[in-house]
Amino acid sequence: MVEFTLPKNSVVKRSSRPPLKEKDFYRVEIYRWSPDSGENPRIDMFDIARNECGSMVLDVLLKIKNELDSSLTFRRSCREGVCGSCAMNVNGKNTLACTKSLDSFDGHTLKIYPLPHMAVVKDLVVDMTHFYEQYASIKPWLENKTAVPERERLQNENERAALDGLYDCVMCACCSTSCPSYWWNSERYLGPAVLLQAYRWIADSRDDNSAERLNTLDDAFKLYRCHTIMNCVDTCPKGLNPAKAIAEIKKSLLFKT
Ligand code: SF4
Ligand code: SF4
Ligand code: FES
Repeated sequence: MVEFTLPKNSVVKRSSRPPLKEKDFYRVEIYRWSPDSGENPRIDMFDIARNECGSMVLDVLLKIKNELDSSLTFRRSCREGVCGSCAMNVNGKNTLACTKSLDSFDGHTLKIYPLPHMAVVKDLVVDMTHFYEQYASIKPWLENKTAVPERERLQNENERAALDGLYDCVMCACCSTSCPSYWWNSERYLGPAVLLQAYRWIADSRDDNSAERLNTLDDAFKLYRCHTIMNCVDTCPKGLNPAKAIAEIKKSLLFKT
């Protein structure tokens, strides 16, 4: 322990700043691990005064990184719930740190962990390689063999509305990493995020490759590992319903000629 010696005749006074009361600060517990240290993972604890940081979980993390520990590692970019990069587990639920309000928690403790069942690269950053490979496998782009029109490919109102709740997905992986079926079979089961994206292209009136897209998904592991546990719906920070998209794919396969 370090001992500091004050100069002789020093007068010790109480700090003018009163000690923080529980309601005035957040006790933030954060999972830490670095592949460079050779040490086991640990939990670091920080006390952050509520009136000194912004209103979202990401504000707490930025305050810690900027003022207390610059080695804290996490992803973020847009701060608007659009890029999907700040996904993490806060108080037991996967969410986007930038859109998760601190007021939504009852207590004053924040337990922040990386997305579950993913390999950790460092601290709150997980390896998304396999997730993105699965995303690429569903060909997330428009396929249309007809001649490219001079201007855009038009849709009527209903065709456009069929994409609501699908195009809004930001591929944050909160749903897939909360899905028990994905935990146990992520090598072969595509998981709710990728299946919702797959349905986004099947449902698109401008795409003429739905039959082949459906054939590719018609697989005991890729699609049918979904057992409607519904964790994906409960956790999606954008309020989307991947389980419904999965059900729509199964229905389309049932009625496919
Ligand atoms: S469905 Fe929701 S939770 Fe899943 S990847 Fe898309 S935005 Fe994230
Ligand atoms: S509904 Fe399907 S995809 Fe969603 S959590 Fe359950 S098993 Fe996973
Ligand atoms: S920083 Fe982009 S979604 Fe949170």
